[in-house]
Amino acid sequence: MKNISVIGGGTMGNGIAHVFAQFGFDVTLIDVQPAALEKALQTIANNLDRQVKKGALTEEDKAATLGRIRTTTSIAEGVALADLVVEAATENVGLKLKIFGEMDQAAPATAILATNTSSISITQIAAATKRPTQVIGMHFMNPVPVMKLVEVIRGYATSDAVTAQIMELSRQLEKVPVEVNDYPGFVANRILMPMINEAIYTLFEGVSGVEEIDTVMKLGMAHPMGPLQLADFIGLDVCLSILRVLHDGFGRPHYAPCPLLVNMVTAGKLGAKSGEGFYKYTPGSKELVVAYKR
Ligand code: CAA
Repeated sequence: MKNISVIGGGTMGNGIAHVFAQFGFDVTLIDVQPAALEKALQTIANNLDRQVKKGALTEEDKAATLGRIRTTTSIAEGVALADLVVEAATENVGLKLKIFGEMDQAAPATAILATNTSSISITQIAAATKRPTQVIGMHFMNPVPVMKLVEVIRGYATSDAVTAQIMELSRQLEKVPVEVNDYPGFVANRILMPMINEAIYTLFEGVSGVEEIDTVMKLGMAHPMGPLQLADFIGLDVCLSILRVLHDGFGRPHYAPCPLLVNMVTAGKLGAKSGEGFYKYTPGSKELVVAYKR
């Protein structure tokens, strides 16, 4: 594999483009918004700078990595020569089905079509194409250049050969791939989201405060971030939508999203990206200031 196309210039898309380019692949980053592409390239340059500062990369590596990324606003043009496409667009089923239909028409017949979805069914996405054996989940974790895991999700029809190729490719990115089957939430979010939801219930029911709940999990369980800070980092809207997929998919009451989470998303408090969730976020500041008042 040489040519990798990445769809979506957001947090996950720019991180995925970053790591493929860093490990020598030619990357085409696709986003319908030219401004999103500009912002993505700037973010990649800033994150490469962190790696240069700590001595993990040289200035030459940084320049070469950036030199391997080209951008386009056209899906058809951007996937025309792809060996692999990784879709990292917004978590919206209708949008993903449309993108996969379009990619299926425009990408070479041999290309593998992967999605970075955090919870949408791979089998459903594959059914929007004429190549379901070549459709697979390649779920990176945020921040992509830092986190070692890639959850490799086999849809109902994904072939053994395609799964093996994506496992091997993940290792070439110095990631650790884990193979899982296509059921709601896969493995990562099936386990993570009920913990985050329970932390929100613990706050909602007045058992303890934001900082206290996060401190228990940080110092008691050695988590790098507490569950409420992590929810803000992931995006409260993303957490809510994954919990709904789990609740709809299994019908078990313990996946029902906490009403506080629903209220916060309705009020536009989406976490770090909106400037406020359980905490307040000021650009350039790492200080954690609690925003939630009961
Ligand atoms: N690109 C490159 N390097 C980055 C980076 C990025 N985007 N973000 C952070 N880093 C590097 C920093 O340079 C730093 O490197 P060194 O320690 O080698 O100097 C290191 O990562 C730590 O960063 P910071 O010092 O800025 O901050 P920190 O120590 O607070 O760590 C964190 C930040 C890595 C995000 C850490 O808090 C963490 O691991 N948090 C949990 C993240 C997590 O759980 N992610 C999964 C979310 S779930 C998901 O993604 C899937 C889903 O479907 C919802």
